[in-house]
Amino acid sequence: MSNYHIKSLEEYFQVYRKSIREPENFWEEIAEEHFLWRKKWNKVLSWDFSKPEVKWFEGAKLNITENCIDRHLATRGEKTAIIFEPNNPEASAEHITYNQLHERVCRMANVLKNEGVEKGDRVCIYLPMIPELAIALLACARIGAIHSVVFAGFSATALSTRINDSDCKIVITSDGSYRGSKTIDLKGIVDEAMENCPGVKKVLVVKRINSDIQMNDGRDAWLQPLLDGASTECLAEVMNAEDHLFILYTSGSTGKPKGMVHSTAGYMVYSAYTFKNVFQYRENDVYWCTADIGWITGHSYIVYGPLANGATTLMFEGVPHHPDFGRFWDIVDKHKVNQFYTAPTAIRALAKQGAEIVEKYDLSSLKVLGTVGEPINEEAWHWYNENIGKKKSPIVDTWWQTETGGIMITPIPFVTPTKPTYATLPFIGIQPSLMDESGNELKGNQVEGRLCIKFPWPSMARTIWGNHQRYKDTYFSTFENNYFTGDGALRDEVGYYRITGRVDDVIIVSGHNLGTAPIEDAINEHPAVAESAIVGFPHDVKGSALYGFVTLNDAGETRVHDNLRKEINQIISERIGAIAKLDKIQFTNGLPKTRSGKIMRRILRKIAEKDTSNLGDTSTLLNPECVQDIIDNAL
Ligand code: WT7
Repeated sequence: MSNYHIKSLEEYFQVYRKSIREPENFWEEIAEEHFLWRKKWNKVLSWDFSKPEVKWFEGAKLNITENCIDRHLATRGEKTAIIFEPNNPEASAEHITYNQLHERVCRMANVLKNEGVEKGDRVCIYLPMIPELAIALLACARIGAIHSVVFAGFSATALSTRINDSDCKIVITSDGSYRGSKTIDLKGIVDEAMENCPGVKKVLVVKRINSDIQMNDGRDAWLQPLLDGASTECLAEVMNAEDHLFILYTSGSTGKPKGMVHSTAGYMVYSAYTFKNVFQYRENDVYWCTADIGWITGHSYIVYGPLANGATTLMFEGVPHHPDFGRFWDIVDKHKVNQFYTAPTAIRALAKQGAEIVEKYDLSSLKVLGTVGEPINEEAWHWYNENIGKKKSPIVDTWWQTETGGIMITPIPFVTPTKPTYATLPFIGIQPSLMDESGNELKGNQVEGRLCIKFPWPSMARTIWGNHQRYKDTYFSTFENNYFTGDGALRDEVGYYRITGRVDDVIIVSGHNLGTAPIEDAINEHPAVAESAIVGFPHDVKGSALYGFVTLNDAGETRVHDNLRKEINQIISERIGAIAKLDKIQFTNGLPKTRSGKIMRRILRKIAEKDTSNLGDTSTLLNPECVQDIIDNAL
């Protein structure tokens, strides 16, 4: 009996138990019955968290694009694979069938091959949310190249750091992008990045906004003529189960971004299986995830998970507020969207606009609503439930991470009773644990601790590109024999999980994961700055916003502080991207430090949160006198 599609709570518990008691048998059945393999595995799982090393479906051979495209052609060739909704609401949407997707992926794959890209090479993709983005991912996978998508909101410096870290030889970009009423000069950003990327031999450019751009002789080429000249057939490279499929960078609390490496077979099986169940996708449904493919949500739940199930997945190029705040609901109405997956920050921004704007649209097609990226607050949950779901569509609050590859803790709609602000139960095969600070697992219910996962799952990241030691140190060294997520969580009286937020120096702003260290490094580059510390503070739309405490070299700095604030945010935009700009910048005479010189962020966090009644123990501070001064001048 197949357990591919869970339909009742009883079935969930039964399948969950099986997935924990006999994980190998369980995943073997799922893999065997629902995917296309060139060769089956010799061993389902081998693992050792102390190394750490995890292998799923070892010995198997496959190509993920045959699973996402080719195998559907006989039965779903004329079915829409991708609906592309452009930024301009007046422009018509594009419906790309599975047959057309096959042809376009093959053409792009052949272009890459003609450019000398080989199995195992890294390809950087820096594109807006246009069909070529999804096609570029699949084209890489077709020929066994490893894609590294960089979100097109990142700056030139962020882009070059990522290109160099994984040694990409080729970049796929566009002349520019549309964003609401604005255009962005993507190619200009790439040109700037290229000044620091001597390893890149070729930049392929999609024409999107018809802007007048500079093409660098020998290095740059327009993509369309190459696609036109390429064959529509491209044999899929036969890959090993553990061959790397992609690299995706995520912020760490310290140092440079971490290139999380995902491998092929396990990622495919898990992203597809979770997609089917978490969204209860049925043939002919239209599914829409509003994320950008530049994030893991887009990789797993716009591209791979949906396509592996032969689904229709919608890609939206624009923003929620263009031409007005009704755009999301207009799209749901227009394309009769059945499953809608977005982030709490978007829900809060839209809720602020009131319910009237929603009422203009027919949202009756909606069956399942999802959220991801940060904890959803009670108010936003209820607004979403009442105004969008009309209390009929269950909300799946899905907790997961770039590192986990797929959804880990989530309700299954129509199966798991939901509870506002709770991600509820672990998905099939997932074994969460909560740890106290001394590393003991907290057993039973009604406990709160650090969230870990104690058993491997198929889509877990296998390493950090070029730095396995960092992978081990970051995720497997805090708690023995456990993957540490960096999040805190509680388990209620019935065993439901609620994620309480990060317990490290990562701050989630509008659903974007930002490390404090890289932002501080950027600020400290300003010649007037001596040192800085960033903390998060609650924000009604963004969830958290950034508060910077900045000490200047010259306390008597005569320049106007507002100008300095602008300059600091300018540096942050250049080094990281506009998403990392600070909402508040307070100039301080000093920062509270421990005797060993470590900045006491705990105190700064309290000041930023305007909760200074109990600052905890400040007796170990080197310079306690600066604290009162910071409180008195807090913004
Ligand atoms: C961090 C991972 C996974 C896709 C998007 C983010 C936070 C994610 C939830 C949720 C509470 C959540 C966690 C996690 N997070 N989903 N449903 N409830 N927090 O991926 O950028 O790797 O960020 O996002 O803190 O660790 P990411």
